[in-house]
Amino acid sequence: MKISVCGKGGSGKSTIVTLLANEAQARGYQVLVVDSDESNTGLFRMLGFYQPPIPLMELVGGKKSLREKMNQSNVLTEASILIEDIPPRYFLERNGIKLVSIGKILQSLEGCACPMGVLSREFLKKLILKADELVFVDMEAGVEHFGRGVETSIDSVLTVVEPSFDSLEVAGRIHSLASGIGIKNIWAIVNKVPSEAIATKLEDELKKRDIDVIGRIHLDHEVFKSNVEGSVLNKGRAAEEIRDVLDCLLLHHGREVFENVPGSSLSK
Ligand SMILES: Nc1ncnc2c1ncn2[C@@H]1O[C@H](COP(=O)(O)OP(=O)(O)OP(=O)(O)O)[C@@H](O)[C@H]1O
Ligand SMILES: [Mg+2]
Repeated sequence: MKISVCGKGGSGKSTIVTLLANEAQARGYQVLVVDSDESNTGLFRMLGFYQPPIPLMELVGGKKSLREKMNQSNVLTEASILIEDIPPRYFLERNGIKLVSIGKILQSLEGCACPMGVLSREFLKKLILKADELVFVDMEAGVEHFGRGVETSIDSVLTVVEPSFDSLEVAGRIHSLASGIGIKNIWAIVNKVPSEAIATKLEDELKKRDIDVIGRIHLDHEVFKSNVEGSVLNKGRAAEEIRDVLDCLLLHHGREVFENVPGSSLSK
């Protein structure tokens, strides 16, 4: 299953990807985290790495020559890619979690990020997963990635909503763009929840926008602590609350797979 974690800038996408990856790994899944955010660089630290992986963009010769190099033979030009096909130089692994990065904008006047969107889309499309493999994609903030078609092969879109009007508005746009390309599993979680009253208010607002909410993650000082110390985020309230979110994602995906098995009692 490929899950894309989206939302407004700063809503907690990288934190939620980290929590989900840690929880899935603890349950015995093989986890690949794809850093598809070309601007922010914090994800590798949250996952406990000391440096970022060499971006896949380098495998195709960097941004400028992406178009020409996509025609030269490498793992990214294959019709399909297995996680084990990713060359060791281009991923980091720690405690059974692998991290790949699409690429980062490092210099000013480097041009737009569209080629990275193309690479994200193609990589995710070609990636074939085994039953015990889960992919979590840390998306760039906002909705531009939908314009670049990054989500075309994504199974579930999880939107992270923090207590702000902007965050709700972005969630609404994500929901309509994701439904527009036929994604059935579109969920939201409310994050950085300071009180039950605020959580209820946010959930009501999301319901008005027809968005199903599958979890509440409270403001948790363990999240701040692990961010400041660079320690692994696997304890505290948020780490407990993410369990229900992963359960829900897995349950719906399992049901969908079963429905598509010819002859199953749930098949359409
Ligand atoms: N549940 C939480 N409790 C406490 N702090 C949180 C929580 N979720 C996120 N944060 C904090 O909020 C800040 C933003 O989180 P994060 O970097 O995960 O957001 P993001 O959506 O990935 O941001 P960006 O759009 O910049 O990539 C971080 O300082 C993080 O520690
Ligand atoms: Mg982030």
